[in-house]
Amino acid sequence: MLRKVSDDATKEGYILIKYIVQGGTKLSGSVTISGAKNAAVAILPATLLVSGPCRIENVPDISDVRLLLEILRDMGAEIHRYGRNTLEIDCSHVRNATAPIELVRRIRASYYLIGAELGRFGHARVAMPGGCNFGVRPIDQHIKGFEAMGANVEQEGGYVCADAPTEGLGGGHVYLDIVSVGATMNIMIAAVLAEGRTIIENAAREPHIVDLANFLNSMGADVRGAGTDTIKVNGVEQLHGGTYTIIPDQIEAGTYMAATAAVGGEVLIKNVIPKHLDCITAKLREMGVTVEEYGESVLVRSTGRLRRANVKTQPYPGFPTDMQPQIGVALAVAEGTSVITEGVWDHRYKYINELRKMGAAVTVDGRVAVVEGVETLRGASVDACDLRAGAAMVIAGLCARGVTLVEDIQFIERGYENFVGKLRLLGADIRIIDEPDGTERGTAAAG
Ligand code: EPU
Repeated sequence: MLRKVSDDATKEGYILIKYIVQGGTKLSGSVTISGAKNAAVAILPATLLVSGPCRIENVPDISDVRLLLEILRDMGAEIHRYGRNTLEIDCSHVRNATAPIELVRRIRASYYLIGAELGRFGHARVAMPGGCNFGVRPIDQHIKGFEAMGANVEQEGGYVCADAPTEGLGGGHVYLDIVSVGATMNIMIAAVLAEGRTIIENAAREPHIVDLANFLNSMGADVRGAGTDTIKVNGVEQLHGGTYTIIPDQIEAGTYMAATAAVGGEVLIKNVIPKHLDCITAKLREMGVTVEEYGESVLVRSTGRLRRANVKTQPYPGFPTDMQPQIGVALAVAEGTSVITEGVWDHRYKYINELRKMGAAVTVDGRVAVVEGVETLRGASVDACDLRAGAAMVIAGLCARGVTLVEDIQFIERGYENFVGKLRLLGADIRIIDEPDGTERGTAAAG
């Protein structure tokens, strides 16, 4: 990763950074989970719909959020930060409906700008979104929803252009062909200020969908049924400002649970909603890990060799695809043969090649990976590949004998707040280094 270290955007203004991980130390202590990335990246664009200031708490300090804030600021939003995780965003005076292409292309969740701009301005022109690449990532179901509300949507020259009819968006009835998180949230966002009622059937049920609905409702929207497979949005005239706190990140919590399971040790994971972690907790218990639930925390204890298990990823409440690489690493060092079936994405096994460099014995055939557990991994130089795969590579490094270098860590920084600092507080030997001189940087303690 090239990180900018000065405002002088010359070559000297950039340094190459990686993670260096020394394996072999068990994890212990406690870690506090940040706000949910996949809720934040929908809620921030949805502030475009609100007339008045939105105070949003527990916003994760991650690069995807920073990019979205840059996009909103460029469009004319007034944004103030209070401490690390509280933002006040006022989009009342936003006039510019076009988000800057060079920023939009860098983040997948910029597709929520289509729904938000369409709802706010009656038209949207947004560059096709970027983000982690695990095969083709179509947005046909989002478009199906906008069209059901009367919009005309065209894709031209790398842009998605959507226009409401002259009388404005109306309520629509859409049956999603695929359970899609993004389409469910984007249609909700577009429908909030539409005239009449929109019904989304076969909707996704992830915790962040409920969180987006709660955010919108707290600003005056009328969204019902979020968390079930049928969501009804009754359009309202206007949304007003207010205060909202984002839920804790299910996947960040799951990542520390998987890390403790794989590396060994005892970790208290604080600021979580244990119910959101049920599927992960159940799988780890099957693998021989102790998980105790308290009000807003879970204690994970892992001693001895993990047991094999089969994992199939599915939409919520199934086992999350965003935990597949992390659990994959735990299974790679478990006793026996495990089978992973990826039920959401066509290509989410790129990290397996990296894991093999570390001595893992895994074969992949289409969406199925067969994992022969090995006693131990060995340190190697590996690529992060994508956000969750990158976190998985760090876990692998912590399990391994020797030193692991994880490159392309910009993927990890997209979605994990202070990953290195939090792991170091748990006793992990992980540092950020600059190349080529090997200087240590940025190992701030977790908040
Ligand atoms: N799909 C379509 N057409 C669509 C939309 C989706 O065919 O219009 C397909 C996708 O190709 C995929 C499946 O439906 O096979 C599910 O995709 P979904 O729309 O649910 O994914 P997404 O909204 O693009 C979000 C998260 C992902 C997470 C998935 C599934 C955000 C910004 N991203 O993506 O998170 O994997 O839901 O839970 O919310 C991550 O955080 O690491 C991450 C990749």
